[in-house]
Amino acid sequence: MNIGIIGAGNVGTGLAKHLLSKGHQVLFSFSKDPEKLAATARSFGARSGTVPEAIAFADIVVLATPWSATAAALQHAGAVVGRKILWDCTNALKPDMSGLSIGTTTSAGEEVARLAPWARVVKAIPPFAEIMHSGSMRIADQQPTIFVCGDDADAKAAVQTLLTQLDTAPYDAGPLRNARYTEPAGFLMVQLAYALGYGANIGLSLLKK
Ligand SMILES: NC(=O)c1ccc[n+]([C@@H]2O[C@H](COP(=O)([O-])OP(=O)(O)OC[C@H]3O[C@@H](n4cnc5c(N)ncnc54)[C@H](OP(=O)(O)O)[C@@H]3O)[C@@H](O)[C@H]2O)c1
Repeated sequence: MNIGIIGAGNVGTGLAKHLLSKGHQVLFSFSKDPEKLAATARSFGARSGTVPEAIAFADIVVLATPWSATAAALQHAGAVVGRKILWDCTNALKPDMSGLSIGTTTSAGEEVARLAPWARVVKAIPPFAEIMHSGSMRIADQQPTIFVCGDDADAKAAVQTLLTQLDTAPYDAGPLRNARYTEPAGFLMVQLAYALGYGANIGLSLLKK
């Protein structure tokens, strides 16, 4: 598949590493420094371009931007042909990571859908970048659970298929509205990792009897 990534930071590159190893093609976009973006892409054997180029290229667009830059990134999209799948990885963290900017009455996923009316948005927060960059998605030899929310069944299934290929355990967590509840779980992980000192080699696992 062709994957267009908006945001070539910790998450964008961490996902790209695994996507490329599974035979997918990657095009990175969105940076304050186009030279750095191009160099990052080259170092992965991937391509770089503008946000519209990444969207046009993609079967699935990955949104991996800081919350504070997400609206600006999506404003770059311009007129998009068709209804693209947009895998939203964002956490609506306050810039000082003291809490979520929005939550429970709406979600980053729903706000992204409002900002990107051309998209079929699927919310699925990936594992910590430290895990993705360690080479294996597994934590203590277990696949991390990824909750997947969205209103379009085909889009959700496509992202779940990718997540399965990436050696994670995706769970259908219902409509996009349920991102109101999965996103705070993502923030709990941030608190555990960075405020409470557990470190970023942690993840969620859903148990089922
Ligand atoms: N890090 C994690 O472990 C993790 C895990 C799950 C979810 N998330 C969420 O995933 C998202 C991405 O996180 P991240 O850690 O990958 O962030 P990051 O490393 O800061 O990467 C963000 C990317 O966006 C670009 N960018 C930022 N502001 C920009 C602007 N104003 N104009 C143009 N480009 C801009 C940066 O490019 P330049 O620096 O080249 O300008 C960078 O490549 C966040 O919403 C985060 O909460 C993070």
